[in-house]
Amino acid sequence: MHVGILGGTGPAGSGLAARLASVGVEVTIGSRSAERAQQTCATVKQRWPDLDLALDGADNEAASQAELVVVATPWDAVTSMAAALADHLEDKVIISMANAIAMVGTELQPLIPPRGSMAAALQAVLPTSLVAGAFHHLPARSLAALDHPVDSDVMICSDHLAAIQATSNLVELVPDLRPIDAGSLSSAAAIEAFTAVLLQVNRRYRSHATIRLRGVKTGAKGVGGGLAGVETEGHQ
Ligand SMILES: NC(=O)c1ccc[n+]([C@@H]2O[C@H](COP(=O)([O-])OP(=O)(O)OC[C@H]3O[C@@H](n4cnc5c(N)ncnc54)[C@H](OP(=O)(O)O)[C@@H]3O)[C@@H](O)[C@H]2O)c1
Repeated sequence: MHVGILGGTGPAGSGLAARLASVGVEVTIGSRSAERAQQTCATVKQRWPDLDLALDGADNEAASQAELVVVATPWDAVTSMAAALADHLEDKVIISMANAIAMVGTELQPLIPPRGSMAAALQAVLPTSLVAGAFHHLPARSLAALDHPVDSDVMICSDHLAAIQATSNLVELVPDLRPIDAGSLSSAAAIEAFTAVLLQVNRRYRSHATIRLRGVKTGAKGVGGGLAGVETEGHQ
């Protein structure tokens, strides 16, 4: 599996890159500057010299040619960047982890982007891609701390069952992450907006809390068993 991460030089993208590479995924960190991406890559590798991380750095265009692509830019850059790379993103699973959030005074507040969520906005500019929303609630710092497990459920939503399945398969590679099929892209607005609440709670309690849904039986580890019986309503 080869994953490209657009905007992968930031804390979220580089943290996810490190975590995925630590479980054997080949990852290309993308950036507007190939040099910056290579520097980020070197920094991650230097932090974990004993791990043989299959990471490289390139410009966003090169990263967009990976088998599966994650969008990890600030929310207001997502659609313009995706539109510029649309030719490379056609017919592929594209995961959006972007949250539209603004600091208002001392509070982090969710914004309502066009189409209600960043994942839906991304799907609109990439009509032939299979867009999924995922990884919104995972703190970058926890993703990057490879000496600790990331203990969380990952809420995944998409209008395409194939995208839910591919994203779930990726999530399942990481121990202690459990993929949850959260439905169609109509769920993305609530999932993304909840990130602001989680960040606010983490600021208040100086914590790195993630989310765990109790009472969801998804099979041995994650969605594998669950997806087999999942309703296809809302998915194509
Ligand atoms: N931080 C977290 O804990 C976390 C967790 C889950 C999800 N998220 C979401 O993940 C996304 C990235 O978060 P982050 O904290 O890593 O953000 P960030 O550091 O602000 O941005 C990530 C990267 O995006 C690129 N970028 C910035 N402005 C751009 C523009 N106008 N056009 C194209 N690329 C641009 C930059 O890379 P180059 O300059 O190298 O191109 C930057 O390093 C956000 O949408 C956030 O809501 C964050």
